Amino acid sequence: MGKVLRRTALMLFAAFSVAAAAADSRVPLPDLPRARHQVSATQGCVEPTEVMRKNHMKFLLHQRDDTVHEGVRTKKHSLVECINCHSSDDRDGKPIAINAPDQFCQSCHAYAGVQMDCFQCHATKPGS
Ligand code: HEC
Ligand code: HEC
Ligand code: HEC
Repeated sequence: MGKVLRRTALMLFAAFSVAAAAADSRVPLPDLPRARHQVSATQGCVEPTEVMRKNHMKFLLHQRDDTVHEGVRTKKHSLVECINCHSSDDRDGKPIAINAPDQFCQSCHAYAGVQMDCFQCHATKPGS
């Protein structure tokens, strides 16, 4: 009896945690492919993941403005670097375009109903 109650309480707690986490980040999350690399042993992305989830578009748009209009070039928020880390390989080890349906950028944008035209001009695969 006690055991059953405790297990029920644990299950409720787990369900609550998941709901709280979902409500916490305002961006809906599909199942995203894992990044190829981490920035360092302690940091995954170029900014903390929570910050990236909310603000990556600002970094990218500022980065573009800085580069195109002001001639400033830093690698930190470079679109090329995003692709280097966030693209995946197919079964033959060839990179898949980052804007393909189930890939990192596109799967989340499709889920969130976001359209973006960046890849009309920008490379969608690493090293291309
Ligand atoms: C009409 C073509 C075109 C479109 C569309 C476009 N860009 Fe660019 N972008 C360029 C060119 C040209 C440069 C400067 C050359 C370079 O650095 O590759 C550039 C540079 C950049 C840079 C700095 C270089 C780098 O790789 O970090 C970023 C970041 C960037 N663009 C982001 C974006 C984002 C985000 C979008 C979509 C919202 C976008 N661009 C849409 C043509 C385009
Ligand atoms: C050095 C590799 C690296 C670079 C460069 C990088 N990322 Fe990341 N990014 C990661 C890792 C690692 C995570 C943590 C999640 C994971 O492991 O896939 C992450 C997480 C994210 C997330 C949150 C995903 C989630 O789970 O909610 C977004 C959005 C993101 N990155 C976008 C970008 C964008 C946009 C760029 C380019 C400006 C970029 N990243 C550059 C490695 C990288
Ligand atoms: C965790 C989900 C998620 C991931 C992963 C993600 N995005 Fe986004 N992105 C969003 C959401 C949500 C928006 C719209 C936010 C808004 O409108 O305020 C957005 C908007 C953008 C915009 C602005 C579009 C515009 O023209 O207004 C750019 C550029 C962008 N993302 C680039 C990227 C790139 C490049 C990647 C892959 C490296 C990526 N995103 C991965 C969720 C994501």
